[in-house]
Amino acid sequence: MTIREFIHRMPKAELHLHIEGSFEPELMFKIANRNGIKLPYRDIDTLKRAYNFNNLQEFLDIYYAGAGVLITEQDFYDLTWAYLQKIHQQNVVHTEIFFDPQTHTERGIAFDTVINGIYNALLDGQKKLGISFVLIMSFLRHLDETSAFKTLQSVLKHKDKIKAVGLDSSEVGNPPSKFKKVFDAARQEGFLTVAHAGEEGPAAYVYEALDLLKVSRIDHGNRSLEDAELVDRLVALQMPLTVCPLSNYKLKVVEDMRTHPLKKMLQLGMKATVNSDDPAYFGGYMNENFMIVTESLDLSKEDLIQLSKNAFEASFINNDLKQKYLSQLDTFQKRNLL
Ligand code: ADE
Ligand code: ZN
Repeated sequence: MTIREFIHRMPKAELHLHIEGSFEPELMFKIANRNGIKLPYRDIDTLKRAYNFNNLQEFLDIYYAGAGVLITEQDFYDLTWAYLQKIHQQNVVHTEIFFDPQTHTERGIAFDTVINGIYNALLDGQKKLGISFVLIMSFLRHLDETSAFKTLQSVLKHKDKIKAVGLDSSEVGNPPSKFKKVFDAARQEGFLTVAHAGEEGPAAYVYEALDLLKVSRIDHGNRSLEDAELVDRLVALQMPLTVCPLSNYKLKVVEDMRTHPLKKMLQLGMKATVNSDDPAYFGGYMNENFMIVTESLDLSKEDLIQLSKNAFEASFINNDLKQKYLSQLDTFQKRNLL
């Protein structure tokens, strides 16, 4: 079996995916047309040519503009359904997706419209495609804590649908400490917590995410490697890192895929996972992310199994389902590797 087939067939879990970042240009134009919104790009090719980023902020500006055409519950449903169909073709059996409510409520879309559209698609994905899911509500860190508190308030009546809260958007200058109180409140309401940290921001932000936000996973975490003490702590905790290789390349977090830190993380015993972040903008879903790191870092099939195992172990699903997936992965390994 070729390595490409091995990656394709391996059962996988995705733990770091922004649903707004799965908005493919074709669907974006279709939804914009149906809502009578004119995108500032002549056609799909012109839009795709704009996907050339020098840093996180340049990407975020385009990502928020794209999300601006989502108006109705059906729009959010279609967006989510398209993503689920895509990952179904790639043997992703479980996904934990972020949505950014403030991106939509700030432009007058009701919180309920957003969550109902996304959630109904996830339920259909579970029923029709067999994909299990966890939904994570993410606060935008470029906005203030008051806005985050308001968002937390709106989610309380949907508590049954959401497992965790996260923190994303412009990292540098917006440290985790800015959101300590709202994360305290979220944990008191029973939510787990995660946070983007150490993507562009320093290792100090990873410490803050651990110590102040009490996260169960670090999203990205690349820059943790700059601090040996932090690495030791992350290894001792077996703190999962949701690493996003193609994203790191496209946002120039790494200059060259051959110097991507993923292999080093595995060698150090860190609990790293592979994820797609914003696949429509960065040129690939799960399989493409696995493929690029395998080729660039010369990963072995054992490494790939380890990465997939890490993801199932780090997922927020109940223990029975976790064991079921881990045993599927074990069977896959025995048939194709041992
Ligand atoms: N929102 C969507 N993708 C993101 C990323 N990679 N970092 C921070 N915020 C994001
Ligand atoms: Zn992200």
